Amino acid sequence: MSRKVIIAGNWKMNKTASEGRKLVEELKPLVAGCTEAEVVVCPPFTTLGAVVEAAKGSNIKVGAQNIHWEQSGAFTGEISADMLKEAGVEYVIIGHSERRQYFGETDCSVNKRLKAALAAGLTPIVCVGELLADRENGNTGKVLFTQLEGGLAGISKEDMAKTVIAYEPVWAIGTGKTATPEMAEETHNYIRQQLRDMFGNEVAEKVRIQYGGSMKAENARELVAQQNIDGGLIGGAALKADSFASLIKNALSACK
Ligand code: PGA
Repeated sequence: MSRKVIIAGNWKMNKTASEGRKLVEELKPLVAGCTEAEVVVCPPFTTLGAVVEAAKGSNIKVGAQNIHWEQSGAFTGEISADMLKEAGVEYVIIGHSERRQYFGETDCSVNKRLKAALAAGLTPIVCVGELLADRENGNTGKVLFTQLEGGLAGISKEDMAKTVIAYEPVWAIGTGKTATPEMAEETHNYIRQQLRDMFGNEVAEKVRIQYGGSMKAENARELVAQQNIDGGLIGGAALKADSFASLIKNALSACK
């Protein structure tokens, strides 16, 4: 089963609209040949419009970093699926560890956001990952199991097949500490096994599982060469066109 590599840049709270437009303009020619990968950039809400405009006609897709589960109403500071759709967004990151850590995101809210994204036809990127203490205490499997069980509850097989999972060990995010390819593969394999148990083998084989956490051009090839690593969710290295483009090219050079 071959799964299309998906590399998504999570810009977090970086890049104004003009900066985002400039980055995409620089990125376009650099990744124009990378048609074997799905290339996604996820800017902040206020930068989405400019980036969608700039990416038009290219192979760069645009995602948001969050979505609310209600369609509209008194939810100050939140953004609905319709708003994202009309803005030209096709992907959305859900349950990033920074959302869980700083903004009280739970597996239950992840699940509600996921359902709203799927109902709107957006491609969700659902983030899971353990803290350093979890790994050191041998609790990685338990933590991931809970996140997957809660976050993916009540999702149909058909919808699950369209959902992307991002495995991001929290201790590797923005720290320069990457999980070794072997360590990441072991965890990706575990996640796919959980998906098999929950949704059956056919669906589990279709789901793309990205690695995230200090992924860069230098380690992308080795990571994506692993059987169960289908791409990356990239923070720091996605903020410059040349580093992001090199990462994508190196990931694609990992023939499987
Ligand atoms: P990083 O971030 O690549 O800067 O470690 C990854 C992420 O948080 O998605």
